Amino acid sequence: MAYEFTKEDLQEIEKIKAKYPEVKAATLPALWVAQNRFGHVDENVQKLVANTLDLPESHVHGVATFYTQYYKEEKGKYVLDVCTCLSCQLCGGYDILEHLEKNLGIKKGETTEDGMFTLNEVECLGACGYAPMMQITNDQYVNNLTTEKVDKVVEDLKNGKVPEYEQIEMPLRNVK
Ligand code: FES
Repeated sequence: MAYEFTKEDLQEIEKIKAKYPEVKAATLPALWVAQNRFGHVDENVQKLVANTLDLPESHVHGVATFYTQYYKEEKGKYVLDVCTCLSCQLCGGYDILEHLEKNLGIKKGETTEDGMFTLNEVECLGACGYAPMMQITNDQYVNNLTTEKVDKVVEDLKNGKVPEYEQIEMPLRNVK
């Protein structure tokens, strides 16, 4: 498949380039523009980014493959990253992962046949206090998961409804 940026994408990339003294520094945000456009940055998309920035393909490939946040292959519309690192694991992270595997009919690392969901097991996402948690497509965090809550999230996503940002109340401290 041949990939092309839109005129708006190219304008955005030009703006990004203008922020930095060296074009190499624009690689990360330009890859992000590409991922937002195509849903992934496979080798063909990496090539497009390299050509657009006039950088070696090997450089763009090195950056894209270093970060797990860049998808090197096509993913589902929603990517569910379930954390099973220590805090989440102790609070039932594996129960959530296994529940999702059963509910979606796929194993971790796979995508549902309808292209709606990709399920991943991931390391700590820095929200250990709200364990168990998962992230949706590099963006929204869903915290304090239960199997009921995760079922609701999946149903909402099927209807195009991304869960809202959850404000977590922190106990007030007495400051003297
Ligand atoms: Fe799950 Fe840190 S252990 S967010």
